[in-house]
Amino acid sequence: MSSQTAVPAFSVLSGAQVHDVLSGNEKHIVDIIDTAYRVHGRHDTVNPPSYFLNFPDRPTARIIALPASLGGDNRVDGLKWISSFPENVANGLPRASAVLILNDHDTGYPFACLESSIISATRTAASAALAADWLTRDRGRPTRVGFFGVGLIARYIHTYLAATGWSFDEIGVHDLSQAHAAGYRDYLRDSGTGARVTVYTEAEDLIRNSDLVVFATVAGRPHVTDPAWFAHNPVVLHVSLRDLSPEIILASSNVLDDVEHCLKANTSPHLAEQATGNRDFIDGTLYQVMTGAVTPRPDRPLVFSPFGLGVLDLAVGKYVYDEVARRGDLATVEGFFHELTRYGTR
Ligand SMILES: NC(=O)c1ccc[n+]([C@@H]2O[C@H](COP(=O)([O-])OP(=O)(O)OC[C@H]3O[C@@H](n4cnc5c(N)ncnc54)[C@H](O)[C@@H]3O)[C@@H](O)[C@H]2O)c1
Repeated sequence: MSSQTAVPAFSVLSGAQVHDVLSGNEKHIVDIIDTAYRVHGRHDTVNPPSYFLNFPDRPTARIIALPASLGGDNRVDGLKWISSFPENVANGLPRASAVLILNDHDTGYPFACLESSIISATRTAASAALAADWLTRDRGRPTRVGFFGVGLIARYIHTYLAATGWSFDEIGVHDLSQAHAAGYRDYLRDSGTGARVTVYTEAEDLIRNSDLVVFATVAGRPHVTDPAWFAHNPVVLHVSLRDLSPEIILASSNVLDDVEHCLKANTSPHLAEQATGNRDFIDGTLYQVMTGAVTPRPDRPLVFSPFGLGVLDLAVGKYVYDEVARRGDLATVEGFFHELTRYGTR
């Protein structure tokens, strides 16, 4: 007797639905990211290298494919397909746009397509907040944070730090664009932060006056090159990955999300590996710090470089899907899968 598998449904989840589920839920999302890092650290994931689609006629643009498979209790497979078009910003559009496809574990069928610029920003910010927490446990909590490059990602990281219990005496802001710096300063003031907000026109002043530095620029190659700026040993969330020169990386303790991923695509740690021919400058991964297997070297700057893992998008995307389904709000596309009988019979 043959058993028939039900025809999978296919749903489309809008950015409004995604935002509705995630907004105000920051602590829970950090827990989801914490779990995803642990599942990845236990090798219960498949997370191949991201594929970068570049364009000869649009050299600043790219679209990246991040296929992944997440194990653990909430297993799911899928693909994030995310565009970065930095010139969008001048035209009033966000730089990044994205979709996330979720695939069923047993049949492989895609069962959902989610707006994913919000999921991507959310998992990036949750990962940064998680890292900031773990990496300051032995160093004392910074009270002066500096945001270097202040677009959408910097806003999400501030939201996640604030929502997970961080409070700052001083918040520094630096951006190549004075308009962006002013917009971020206004956002901070509207967010009700009690901190003193300072816009620094000089990058050096921002770094020297911050114990926690968040890089979220779109720089393609290192533009911060003087290790002396980091003489006070700040913790650095190097989210944009390509801002720091190899000299600064080599003078720091370095924690990555995934070593093989991060030593690619001309990230600053990749440049440091090319300069030295070894990986001795890497202390370990965030998972190793979280499990006590690694303690980063003290008495030097501590740089966290997260390449950004597709399994994190899957973990957040699956949570959003399950939550929208639980609320009975899934918008299913009727008849999405159409050719379903082997010989066209009914
Ligand atoms: N590691 C990850 O997992 C991950 C995930 C998502 C985004 N990102 C990265 O985060 C970065 C920020 O993304 P976004 O969406 O906020 O971009 P965005 O374009 O909205 O903002 C970037 C800001 O950086 C400023 N900037 C650019 N170069 C600068 C420089 N040299 N010095 C100072 N400021 C500079 C720009 O003026 C802009 O305000 C991107 O590089 C993106 O690739 C990383």
